[in-house]
Amino acid sequence: MEKKRFIFGIAAAVAWLGVAGAVGPIPASHSDNGRRIFLHGTTDAGRLVENSHGMEGVGCAMCHGEDGRGGMMHGVPAPEITFLGLTDPAGHDHDVTGRRHPAFTRETIKAAVVAGIDPAGNSLHEEMPRWTGLTGRDLDDLIDYLVFLSKGHRRSLPAPERMFHKQGSDRIDSIAPPRLD
Ligand code: HEC
Repeated sequence: MEKKRFIFGIAAAVAWLGVAGAVGPIPASHSDNGRRIFLHGTTDAGRLVENSHGMEGVGCAMCHGEDGRGGMMHGVPAPEITFLGLTDPAGHDHDVTGRRHPAFTRETIKAAVVAGIDPAGNSLHEEMPRWTGLTGRDLDDLIDYLVFLSKGHRRSLPAPERMFHKQGSDRIDSIAPPRLD
């Protein structure tokens, strides 16, 4: 009886590790990078992210809101930038700036952040800084954070993402959200 329970315990542990392996937990410092860039404009190594406005210690949150749902900067709307918002298949029609573009992808989000170009090839308003100091890893971490901010978004999340959010918000930060491209 005792032995049976022991074997069951091992089997359960192996199964759990299998799930954890598939989901791919990664060190907290990794996903922390995306959050810091978003909130403070600094990396997890404490490096200031260079940008065309010369801003220091300020991240996306200042204009787009801490929840990424959008805000206003000097009369120019800073749109919602949660991943699900940006990748809405309907695309976006920005009234004030007159920009119109199809849905973003991970790659076109990078182009917008680094070079200020939207998926239709329009230049973003100069109120949106060009974030030239981001490495490839920084960009991926940042976009993963935009995926995380999609939590509670009105569009339904793809299945793997729903699985993440069921685990409770405390745990999400220490686990990399899945790539959705
Ligand atoms: C100083 C204010 C400010 C900061 C800081 C800022 N943005 Fe923006 N962002 C804007 C404004 C304003 C726009 C709208 C530009 C336009 O409509 O032409 C914009 C547009 C965007 C867009 C295009 C959205 C769309 O629907 O076309 C993306 C993506 C974006 N920002 C991402 C980011 C990210 C990521 C960061 C942080 C690394 C960031 N922004 C920091 C002001 C800002």
